[in-house]
Amino acid sequence: MTRPVAGVLGAPWSTGVRRRDDGVVEVGEVGVDALAAEHGTPAYVLDEADFRARARGYRTAFATAFAEVGTGVDVYYAGKALLTVAVARWAREEGLRVDTASGGELAVALRAGVPGGELGLHGNNKSDDEILAALDAGVGRLIVDSLVEIDRVAALAASRGVVAPVMVRVTTGVHAGGHEYISTAHEDQKFGLSVNPGRDGGDPPAMRALLAAVERPELHLLGIHSHIGSQILDPAGFEAAARVVLRLRAELAERTGVLVDEVDLGGGYGIAYLPGEVPLDPDRIAKDVASAVAAVGAELGTPLPRISIEPGRAIVGPAGLTLYTVGTVKPVALDDGRVRTYVSVDGGMSDNIRPALYEAQYHAELVGRSSAAEPVLARVVGKHCESGDIVVHEVQLPGDVRAGDLLAVAATGAYGRSMASNYNLLTRPPVVAVADGGSRVLVRRETVEDLLALDLG
Ligand SMILES: Cc1ncc(COP(=O)(O)O)c(C=O)c1O
Repeated sequence: MTRPVAGVLGAPWSTGVRRRDDGVVEVGEVGVDALAAEHGTPAYVLDEADFRARARGYRTAFATAFAEVGTGVDVYYAGKALLTVAVARWAREEGLRVDTASGGELAVALRAGVPGGELGLHGNNKSDDEILAALDAGVGRLIVDSLVEIDRVAALAASRGVVAPVMVRVTTGVHAGGHEYISTAHEDQKFGLSVNPGRDGGDPPAMRALLAAVERPELHLLGIHSHIGSQILDPAGFEAAARVVLRLRAELAERTGVLVDEVDLGGGYGIAYLPGEVPLDPDRIAKDVASAVAAVGAELGTPLPRISIEPGRAIVGPAGLTLYTVGTVKPVALDDGRVRTYVSVDGGMSDNIRPALYEAQYHAELVGRSSAAEPVLARVVGKHCESGDIVVHEVQLPGDVRAGDLLAVAATGAYGRSMASNYNLLTRPPVVAVADGGSRVLVRRETVEDLLALDLG
């Protein structure tokens, strides 16, 4: 007999999360007490069925919506959110391609058996080695991010005797997303090439890059790429960016006779982090974006391109939770008369930097038992030497929270492990997948021996 986690029907927990009658929460039919006993804490726990369902959901929603307006779609799983060999395989088995952003991500995707042609490589400062690794793997697309990179990729392709398939990443001026550092299409930042004229009044950098890519025999210009930000909950930004990119594509066709085949609208689909938040619905967003693309195509009189998207967080974020053990519990009197209970856990900013970096909000619950104690205002903090080492800024936890309790933070599947560090020389937690009543380690816990092995003395 199972029932949903108290008061949190669905979001922000993965669909396999339930609280059993004995008060213990389970994920994919495995109790968190058993997970903690077998794998230790802290641990990233991934609900495989949830990941797969979200991957399928995005692929089906976009394929259906774009088929209705007469074109096709490729969904690239953005590996930067979390990439392990198994995760890349799950994505591929669910019909997704994989977007990588470094030589390391590329290597993991290749190790997983994803064919080069189903991979993309991003990056505003790719090394020669990364570009060569991508060319040698026969990647489907290199997304070029600057004018100089056009020359570099062309020269490296020539050195290998191949033609490099490229997309040009443009900044559309559309600004969307939760925090300035994760909003990537406004002008004052490092990514992409602007669609607005430069200071000299000449062609915008984006058009100059497209013209250069068309002219270079070592490059095959596949299309135009735009990514407007992350944790976006309003579809208007995607629609506005699609308009800008399709106009640019039509202008390039007018000037060169080359109508590029593909347009990538990037990732950034928002999820629920807190109870009551409403994530983007893939069916709705797919329909909205498809009809915006179809409307601009009709206005411009150009056949529609093949579309691609790159969701990361929306696939893996809700599928993950982080399991911690509570240590020190300390009530602190606030100036306004309230009391805040500081609940320290055995991890912190090294396994989830997002609260410190973006002021990201998360939700936590005691998961090893239920409690009838009055809830108290709590702040979940880590064990690092920083007062900003906050895991959950504000949450109500049972007043009898105590050392030894198991505590889980929801929706940490994206940008948790992938942004983790060894700050204070903590060892990074394992990634444990749970499915059908069993668990397996996808990435093992680091050990102090691993840290010492890197230090050559
Ligand atoms: C180019 C690009 N594509 C896709 C993504 C994935 O974004 P999200 O995980 O928010 O969907 C990012 C994230 O930064 C990105 O920079």
